[in-house]
Amino acid sequence: MSRAPVIEVRGTPQRPLGMTPARFLRDYWQKHPLLIRGAFPHFHDAISPQDLAGLACEEAALARIVIHEPKRDRWALRNGPFAESDFAKLPSTHWTLLVQDVDKWDLDVAALLDAFAFIPSWRVDDVMVSYAAAGGGVGAHVDQYDVFLVQGTGQRRWRISMDPHARRDFRDDAELKLLREFSSTHDWILEPGDALYLPPNVPHEGTAIGECMTFSVGMRAPSQAELLLDFSEFLAEPLGDGARYADPGMRPIRHAGEIDAAALARARAAMPHFSNVDNTTFARWFGCFITRYRAAHMATPRARVITPTRLATQLPTVRVLRNPFSRFAWARIGRGALLFVAGESHPCSVALARALCAQRELDGAALTRQGAYETLATLVNDGHLQLIRSP
Ligand code: SIN
Ligand code: CO
Repeated sequence: MSRAPVIEVRGTPQRPLGMTPARFLRDYWQKHPLLIRGAFPHFHDAISPQDLAGLACEEAALARIVIHEPKRDRWALRNGPFAESDFAKLPSTHWTLLVQDVDKWDLDVAALLDAFAFIPSWRVDDVMVSYAAAGGGVGAHVDQYDVFLVQGTGQRRWRISMDPHARRDFRDDAELKLLREFSSTHDWILEPGDALYLPPNVPHEGTAIGECMTFSVGMRAPSQAELLLDFSEFLAEPLGDGARYADPGMRPIRHAGEIDAAALARARAAMPHFSNVDNTTFARWFGCFITRYRAAHMATPRARVITPTRLATQLPTVRVLRNPFSRFAWARIGRGALLFVAGESHPCSVALARALCAQRELDGAALTRQGAYETLATLVNDGHLQLIRSP
């Protein structure tokens, strides 16, 4: 049996993970927790507690407040959007505000993702930011996804359990999914710039020591049930009503109501679609699926439609901004590429697909080298790309 790798390392400015991404992916990713001391030296919060609270008051933001009453061990969950007055009524300790998708609202927070560019962007869900008063936290729980918990201002105590037999059932007296039982095997205090990586399903509990900010870079992974359902819908859509179970050559039945082996074989034959899907079709489905999966907001189409010709004349003088809520991904198809944006696929060159997926903000003049004004105009008109006049 192979021994678990070390659980604590020190990061350097060149190596925030304390090792190469390749080694991290080989030894830790989806397998083992890792505490990285000094992953982000001189880390400063990309957003202030005040601005986080302001965002939590926005209609479209996903925000929660969790309050713990330690004496009676009672937990309360409130969902946003909040009003300023809600914050004034909070106790002085043992509460936390959590806002999801902050990377979509704030470019400085989004920049934190650059350190994780070795993971495909379509695997990354969001940066959730929490502010906690002393003693605040969300209780002991498990997450279904990998997460990097980056400590901002202040200190947080993290306890985790590496016991594979630890119970993972939930308390039934709280709206939050809190573990009924939790006893830790590891106990750390994280300082600003430290990061804790947790693979899915590791019981953990983070408690603010004083006031603190935590930046959670969370991953996403569709469930097999979600994949299966979506893929089946994709395969079924073009079939129409005419293609049906058929039984030419059927023999007389022997027992009323029996579904015999021949019938089952014919039922199977009526569904050859899964195994008949070629790689290009599969890539097209997966790219569309994964770029619309768990999308919090749909892009709003541009008010004034721009033609490809007009776009060609404007591009050299503008910056092109990706809509933060529109996911971009691409797959190589032969010598070209399929670009996926928020559930739609667009055939284009590898160079254009790479350029659009690599950066949140692009230089319009550089994009003119790619041509492809039809595709770009579609993306602009659908609200996935925004043109900003260069200063
Ligand atoms: C946090 O409290 O900021 C992170 C919550 C978690 O453990 O997922
Ligand atoms: Co968690």
